[in-house]
Amino acid sequence: MSEIRFQEKEYNTDSLDAGLWKKIINLLGNQKKDLYWLFVFMLLVAVLDVVFPYLNKIAIDYFAIGKGTQGQLIGFGVGYLVLLAVQAFFVFKFIAQSGIVETDFSYYVRKTVFDKLQVLSYSYYDKTPTGWIMARMTSDVGRLAEIIAWSLVDMVWGLTVMVGITIVMLIVNWKMALLVLVVVPILAYISVWFQTRILKNYRLVRQVNSKITSSFSEGIAGAKTTKTMVLEEQNLEEFNRLTSEMREKAIRAAILSSLFMPIVIGLSAVSTGAILWYGGNQVLFYGLEFGTLMMFTQYANQFFEPLRQIARLLAELQMAQASAERVLSLLEEEPAIVDSDEVIAQYGTILEPKVENYPVMKGDISFEHVDFNYLPEEPVLVDFNLEVQAGQTIALVGETGSGKSTIVNLLCRFYEPVNGIVKIDGVDYKQRSLGWLHSNLGYVLQAPHLFSGTVKENIQYGRMEASMEEIMDAAKLVNAHDFIMKLEKGYDTDVGEGGGRLSTGEKQLICFARAVLADPKLFILDEATASIDTETEKVIQDAIDKVLVNRTSFVVAHRLSTIVNADVILVMKNGRILEKGNHDALMKLKGYYYRLYTNQFNENLQKELLKQK
Ligand SMILES: Nc1ncnc2c1ncn2[C@@H]1O[C@H](COP(=O)(O)OP(=O)(O)OP(=O)(O)O)[C@@H](O)[C@H]1O
Ligand SMILES: [Mg+2]
Repeated sequence: MSEIRFQEKEYNTDSLDAGLWKKIINLLGNQKKDLYWLFVFMLLVAVLDVVFPYLNKIAIDYFAIGKGTQGQLIGFGVGYLVLLAVQAFFVFKFIAQSGIVETDFSYYVRKTVFDKLQVLSYSYYDKTPTGWIMARMTSDVGRLAEIIAWSLVDMVWGLTVMVGITIVMLIVNWKMALLVLVVVPILAYISVWFQTRILKNYRLVRQVNSKITSSFSEGIAGAKTTKTMVLEEQNLEEFNRLTSEMREKAIRAAILSSLFMPIVIGLSAVSTGAILWYGGNQVLFYGLEFGTLMMFTQYANQFFEPLRQIARLLAELQMAQASAERVLSLLEEEPAIVDSDEVIAQYGTILEPKVENYPVMKGDISFEHVDFNYLPEEPVLVDFNLEVQAGQTIALVGETGSGKSTIVNLLCRFYEPVNGIVKIDGVDYKQRSLGWLHSNLGYVLQAPHLFSGTVKENIQYGRMEASMEEIMDAAKLVNAHDFIMKLEKGYDTDVGEGGGRLSTGEKQLICFARAVLADPKLFILDEATASIDTETEKVIQDAIDKVLVNRTSFVVAHRLSTIVNADVILVMKNGRILEKGNHDALMKLKGYYYRLYTNQFNENLQKELLKQK
């Protein structure tokens, strides 16, 4: 496979990007109404949070001290109880709704990403590590769901409570309100200062931690090499450096967290103290109602809780922006290879093909002046020309990196030529749809791939409507039937994830059976230099011979017998055709192919001789 050149972007986590979060929320699509309901319940809870201290004031001023009657008191008590019950209900609804939104978000985003992954081109998977995509699908989406369902909503709650309290305070007594509010800017500043530093340190701890883990596993996996190279001391030093770095960062985060709380408590104490001092004077000498004073102390306490939370949430949101950007970058990725509008009008899309319009493929192929590169500045094929008649077998040989897989990638339209054209049956293949090409194409990759499921299902993927007879016929043709029957449950045996329970040779045979069943006009085999025993080798060779009959085939082969029988052998070097012709012609040439053949022939001879001893 080609080397992976993948670079993770740097993400901005220094400032809050509202547009980004709007896009993330929009991913909820139709399910956004669940989020709106969540906000509604949240707002109702917040409003009631503000109402209760005011009710307490009434209880004190009107009933405890004032002239409220017994009857009124009962009414008030009942009303108070009802409101408490209502609030309990809203809290319940809000928590349940948060759960719904969290699940919704994970579900819809994962679904959208999965749909996207189906339409993205082959090249995307070439350059993006599977692990990266998996991490986006699982941990990043999970993290965003959590933040939207809980943190974002907490923030709305906090803001509403603060605004509500401010309004009530200003209406009741604006001078005392200012006494509470004066501390707000100071506290807000301190909160933000501390929270960003605490989170930054924790993030560093996580980073160092993952470095430690990987150095750990490298140290273990490479233990033997270390021993032979006397690297123990160096390894130990590296490990000590990383662990002490982590210790330092973790301790700093812990100290910051422990400083933050006393400061907040201290500041709210100062503000409560100011209220009590000023308000107490007012009560004693200027006739301020006692309940109002009580209400203000309660509000002062309530006011600082959300403030503290908001600082934490803002910092969290900032940190999560990297997750948000990564998920969006995956969703906004455009497939590199698409059909033109005219082609789609004629032949439909991959998901909705107009099969009735598909022309029958004969199998003539021509590459005309094809230039190709994966990366600008690094040409792989230059002015590549090739003419293939329907039914011919083309063998591609050449050293690693010479461009063999690239040629078949172009033929499959996994990539398109940078210049020049590829024609199938005399027509530029861009004038027919990807669906048409791929429905006529059988491809057995370097590493044969099976899906989890039974043997039967795996062969059936070749042609979904095939009957059991046809499936067995295909298996028999490629010599897979015998080993399948020996499996525990025959055709109904589960192959395990990725076919993990079968050997490479067996997987390959099943892939051949799948290809035979599909009966494609074009067949491509990109073989790995797998070390397979001579017995299996013969079985596979025989299977290959049968698959190649009646179709245009491109074979990147390492088995001489496959190559010897090919109609045309292309010897590739640095993206150019070094030698071209059938076996006899190339042997006469006494060039690269001649040497390759005689070397491998001798090797095989040696193996046979060794076996006989
Ligand atoms: N996805 C890719 N991105 C960038 N460069 C690539 C990519 N795939 C292949 N290349 C480069 O293109 C050149 C041709 O590679 P190709 O895979 O066609 O070689 P190959 O003949 O199939 O080799 P092998 O025998 O090892 O399979 C090499 O230099 C390789 O590094
Ligand atoms: Mg290759």
